[in-house]
Amino acid sequence: MEVIIVPGPNDVAVLAADIVARLIQQRPDAVLGLATGSSPLGLYAELARRAATTLDTTRVSGFALDEYVGLDPAHPQSYASVIRTQVTEPLGLDPARVQVPPGDATDLERSCAEFEQAIREAGGVDLQILGLGGNGHIGFNEPTSSFSSRTRIKTLAPATRRDNARFFPAPDDVPTHCVTQGLGTIMDATTVLLLAAGPAKADALAKAVEGPVAALCPASILQHHRRAIVLVDEEAAAGLALADYYRYAYANKPEWQRS
Ligand code: F6R
Repeated sequence: MEVIIVPGPNDVAVLAADIVARLIQQRPDAVLGLATGSSPLGLYAELARRAATTLDTTRVSGFALDEYVGLDPAHPQSYASVIRTQVTEPLGLDPARVQVPPGDATDLERSCAEFEQAIREAGGVDLQILGLGGNGHIGFNEPTSSFSSRTRIKTLAPATRRDNARFFPAPDDVPTHCVTQGLGTIMDATTVLLLAAGPAKADALAKAVEGPVAALCPASILQHHRRAIVLVDEEAAAGLALADYYRYAYANKPEWQRS
């Protein structure tokens, strides 16, 4: 696990965009795993700026992490809408290469299996972008999710529904269920890039990075990932016991390790 601490959320966005853009330059048909929520918005905005000038994203594919169950894909808060308006359109991705797990299918189990199959057929995810829930979730893998889980239906934790109520007219409008890539699905990505900013993430981040690997903090499974980059701002890093070591390691990172 590489932990990179930068001053603020804007620095998180720019450095994350450097990492994603470098991958796309090396591999123009890269497959990205796409988180929604607030954490990656600065990254997507920064990538959109680069896509408008120097970065060719036309062959990039994307798989969203999750979707609410029961929302029409045209609903402004469905992740199908959010991915289209925040990612596909501004980054100039080919809509045919971007998939969101369907939350309105009549046979959700089957559509989850088909989503997994589509990821396999694309050759797997090269880089999975992740945010971190205040309760330690990644995707919508809530505490006690199985570490080997695949894309499936989950019940949202009350804390997650409260956190996400800010996106809906009323708290009760937040759906109770979702479909989410599993922790096993996320762990299959070649690289994972976890983004976190702000004091509300400090406790979950410390547990994820330095706590025991435990299903109570689903993000802690990333300690077992062969290439996990944790890119956070100072406020999110406030609970890290080894913060000075992470700063030292990044400041002294050899050039050959930077690509
Ligand atoms: C969203 C997702 C969630 C969020 C997490 C953090 O697709 O998978 O895990 O990344 O809830 O949300 P924000 O970034 O809004 O704080």
